Amino acid sequence: MYTGLQHFHSFWAYLALILLILTIINSILGVTGDKPFAGKDRKLALFTLISVHIQLLIGIVLLFTSPYWAALTESGMGEVMKNSLYRMMVVEHPLTNIIAVTLITIGWSRHKKQDSDKAKHKSFMIFYLLGIILLLSRIPFSNWWS
Ligand code: HEM
Repeated sequence: MYTGLQHFHSFWAYLALILLILTIINSILGVTGDKPFAGKDRKLALFTLISVHIQLLIGIVLLFTSPYWAALTESGMGEVMKNSLYRMMVVEHPLTNIIAVTLITIGWSRHKKQDSDKAKHKSFMIFYLLGIILLLSRIPFSNWWS
């Protein structure tokens, strides 16, 4: 099960990151070009939100079934923090990504409360951008692309 989830999490990351980039570009064009906020803009942002939430759920299951979690329960947090790979997988990657997904979710919720089309685009531009910066800062690229 672990390997299957790992492959899914690894593949789904591309989808989630591509959708995030598309939504961010779309919202920047919306803000700078003073474009109306249309149904297609909402749908793109919604699919992105859903893809990121799916990644989060898979990530949580992956963590609890991982050898990294087993190491934590066997050796304790002190040992995990001493090993940079384990620290990344058990602490840095999960925590940073949970914060990133929270920011993305705030961006989604916030756009609904905005009256102007520009403000709706801006909500995605700011919060989805902050989210992707955090995500990219703590992706284990060496594992992902090896
Ligand atoms: C939502 C945004 C997230 C993205 C874009 C993301 C992306 C990735 C990527 C690209 C990898 C490397 C996969 C590989 O080695 O082939 C990875 C690994 C991992 N992720 Fe995430 N992740 C996210 C959230 C999470 C969360 C919230 C958790 C846990 C609570 C998590 C747990 C893990 C674990 C345990 C691994 C190590 C898998 C392994 O190499 O055995 N991820 N993640």
